[in-house]
Formats: sequence, C-alpha cells, structure tokens
Amino acid sequence: MNKAVYSLGLGPGDHELITVKAIRILKESDVVVVPQSNKQGRSVAREVILHYIDASKVHMYYIPMTNNKEELVRRYTGLAAKIKEMVGQDKSVSYVTQGDPTIYSTSNYLTEKLNAVGIRVNHVPGISSINAAASMIGLPLSVKKENFGVYEMPADPESVADLIQRHPTTVFMKVNNKLPTLIETVKRMKPAKAFLVRRIGLDGESVYDMLNGAPPPKSAYLSVAVIKRGQKSCKIPEKQK
Ligand SMILES: C[S@@+](CC[C@H](N)C(=O)[O-])C[C@H]1O[C@@H](n2cnc3c(N)ncnc32)[C@H](O)[C@@H]1O
Repeated sequence: MNKAVYSLGLGPGDHELITVKAIRILKESDVVVVPQSNKQGRSVAREVILHYIDASKVHMYYIPMTNNKEELVRRYTGLAAKIKEMVGQDKSVSYVTQGDPTIYSTSNYLTEKLNAVGIRVNHVPGISSINAAASMIGLPLSVKKENFGVYEMPADPESVADLIQRHPTTVFMKVNNKLPTLIETVKRMKPAKAFLVRRIGLDGESVYDMLNGAPPPKSAYLSVAVIKRGQKSCKIPEKQK
C-alpha cells in the first residue's frame, strides 16, 4: 500500500496561524510541494513554510493562472505523476495551500488527480481567510439562528446586491479588480457594516470600512469583504435601480 501524501492548509499568511499538526507533518516530509501561480513572484506559502523547514526540501511547481482548462489539466496531471514517482522512491510528500485546502484551492484539483493515479491523500485543515477576516474586524460571521454565505465576488452589481440580501452576513472572496463595483453597490444598499480586509497576516495588512467614504485601497488583491446586512433585508432603493 502506498504511503499517504498530505495536503496541508497553512492559514492566511501569518506563520503563527498554522496548526501544530501541519508543522509536524512539514518537518516529517522529505519533500514539500508548493504550487505557484507566478513563476517569478513571491509565494506566501513558501514564506510560511520556511519558518519551519529548510528550503532544500521545498519543490516549487508552476500552475499558471489561466482559464485554459487543457493547460491546467496538463499541469495538475504532470504534478500528480511527479508526486507518484516520489512516493515510489519511498519519499514522504506533502503539498501546501494558503488558508484552507478545501476552499478555492489548487489542492482540490491536485487531490483529484492524485486519487486518479491511486494515491491516497490525508488532509490537514488550515485557518481560512474567511475566519481570519472575521477575527480582524472582530465581528461574528454568524450567531444563533442566523447563517452566512460565502461567494466568489460577482462582476455585476445586481448579483452582488442579490447575494447581500440573502444572508445576515455575506463574505466575498477574490474581490480583486471588482472592488469599485462592490463599494458602489454597498453604498447604495447601506448595510449595517461593510469591511474589506486586505493581506491578512502579510505586509500591508489593512481593514477598509466601505461605508465611511475614505479613499479605497489601490489594490484589492488578496482581499476578503465581510458585509453585515443587519436583521432586516436591505435593498437598493427602487428609484436607484
Ligand atoms: C484562491 S483563493 C484561496 C482561499 C484560501 N484557500 C482560504 O482558505 O482562504 C484566494 C482568495 O482568498 C482570499 N485570501 C487568501 N489569503 C488572504 C489573505 N492573507 N488576506 C486576505 N484575503 C486572502 C482572497 O479573497 C483571495 O482572492
């Protein structure tokens, strides 16, 4: 029976927001694979793990940020084959992801490809940017008898407004260049609270209150928005639609 490979969540980027279990497995691994979307750019995951292991154990692997499905399948299949080869050489292998591996993560695709070539994967959860964002602003995501929704940020204001109306609390991930749409919609809807939390645990970490009129941050890359609608539904006034 093959040794299991580990998928490890590393938390949002602060090296202290990683689990004791993930640190133990990182140290026990012969190889730690870090999928990287930017060939030259900085890898937050790499920086986190270098607090705990030597760079010689780290294997960077390029996964392009593209919508070209064929290319992505090729890269993930190639990485799964490489990991299988390492396991065949009796190496213990783990691969890592920022936040939690089950949320919008390269790990989900890689796990699928590994399972397809007969490799078993053990998962270690990480603190997601959703939890970290709520902690930074010190507000609950949900209280008794309430619920909250998590969405990838839509591009059009109607969808943004529709999602905000659905739950007492709404979290938008991957805000990126859609920040102006979000700010505009939020200002028209006037929810109880609306925050953008940027670069949690990293240099430039900041919280922006979208209702207070301060100039918005230049970039919303690595940002999570937390919108609290309040108890009542909150809609864009009819005449503004
Ligand atoms: C590809 S998803 C990865 C999510 C990750 N697996 C998690 O559990 O948080 C990338 C999105 O996660 C959020 N994110 C990840 N790390 C973050 C951080 N340090 N600060 C703020 N947002 C972050 C942003 O919304 C970003 O666009």
